[in-house]
Amino acid sequence: MTATPKPSKYWMFTNEFTQNPFPILEYIRSQGPVCEVPLPGAGRAWVVTRYEEAKEALADPRLSRDIHYHYKLIAERTGQRVVPPPENSNHLANLEPPRHTPLRRAISFAFTPRRAEAMRPKVVAMADELLDKLADQASPDLISGYADPLPVIAIAALMGVPAESWPDFLRWSTALRAADPVMAGGEMDRTTRELSAYLRALIARKEKEPGDDLISALIHADADKRLTGMEILSTAFALMTGGNDTTASLVGGVLGTFLTHPKERDRLLAEPGSWGAAMDELIRYVSPIGNTLQRATTEPVTIGGTTIPTGEIVIINVLSANRDERQFPDHPDELDLDREKPTHLSFGFGIHYCSGAHLAKVITEVGTRRVFERFPEVRLAVDPSELRYQQNVVTRPLETLPVRWYADNAMSRGVG
Ligand code: HEM
Repeated sequence: MTATPKPSKYWMFTNEFTQNPFPILEYIRSQGPVCEVPLPGAGRAWVVTRYEEAKEALADPRLSRDIHYHYKLIAERTGQRVVPPPENSNHLANLEPPRHTPLRRAISFAFTPRRAEAMRPKVVAMADELLDKLADQASPDLISGYADPLPVIAIAALMGVPAESWPDFLRWSTALRAADPVMAGGEMDRTTRELSAYLRALIARKEKEPGDDLISALIHADADKRLTGMEILSTAFALMTGGNDTTASLVGGVLGTFLTHPKERDRLLAEPGSWGAAMDELIRYVSPIGNTLQRATTEPVTIGGTTIPTGEIVIINVLSANRDERQFPDHPDELDLDREKPTHLSFGFGIHYCSGAHLAKVITEVGTRRVFERFPEVRLAVDPSELRYQQNVVTRPLETLPVRWYADNAMSRGVG
């Protein structure tokens, strides 16, 4: 085995790292559980790379997700004073207790595993419709044509958005993805305004005519769990921003994994009952969340022997934690569907644990199965070494996943 050379100061931001982060992360972990990295133009951050320490950090109330606190720290470092839009600053993902607590309670009552499970037949229909559009293409891209749109329309449907508005949701979701969330202005402002106006009208309609959907459940909750109009609007933003790109990254990643691991794919497709246990190992291996979750210290915090002062940015690197050899001693870099405890951190840990985890699993299982059930001969149209990941600090999506539907027009090389 060749030793990994010492990574450069800006290792987290290089293309080499985006394409193959694992040898670099292994080296960084070997140096200690926490390291300091420069943030281009914004001082420094502390990166937590080992599993135990990452879990401990996620449960520590002195590490804050409060968006107002983050914007204040960024303003101090960059001199740019940016105010987060109300749509993005009144939801559970960007707040801490005491404000987080009632928002979390409301969503837990409205967004149950039963509601996520009830989406299964609808996701089958959505997947089939997307596949129908790709079926005649010689070399369709399963990212732009399938993994990206599927979660957007599934989450829109869950919220109670009618089918005629799904194309708008796809457009808004793409615009939000392209924009820098910290730097307001331009496309981001326009999209936020349009989406906001749409959701206000939807909420007003569902106040009068509730349906069997998540927005209606939030509006018509018992008085002790009821949210304000702005909180419901903001929660809808949280579902879109928290659910779309993350689930797209997982669906694309699992499809890519199955196209390069035919043994594991065939086994799962032959035993539909074993998806539940296998899904967590797939999520650990694919790691749809990238080199984040971000926090800021509200007082000095010691993690793994390193004391981080007040007012510092902390990046809890889930990608690294999910491959930590201390937690996963047997071949952490391999997919092993029989792994006993694939206890990944991809959905976070503690009070911010992902509210959409169950739905994400339903979309991924159904989305993956439909591709292979409908096109059993599907294979990669390029060599696996040609697949590229997008440079993205939050998620870890493949850029494209070109396939051929049938063996007779497939390239013979490289699969498996
Ligand atoms: C594979 C797909 C997904 C992944 C990997 C993922 C990951 C995460 C993670 C890591 C967190 C915690 C963030 C932190 O602690 O900083 C989180 C929170 C959250 N996620 Fe997801 N998520 C996924 C899908 C979804 C979906 C489908 C929805 C909803 C439709 C959703 C809604 C949320 C919400 C509302 C929160 C905030 C919870 C809170 O702060 O209490 N997520 N997600």
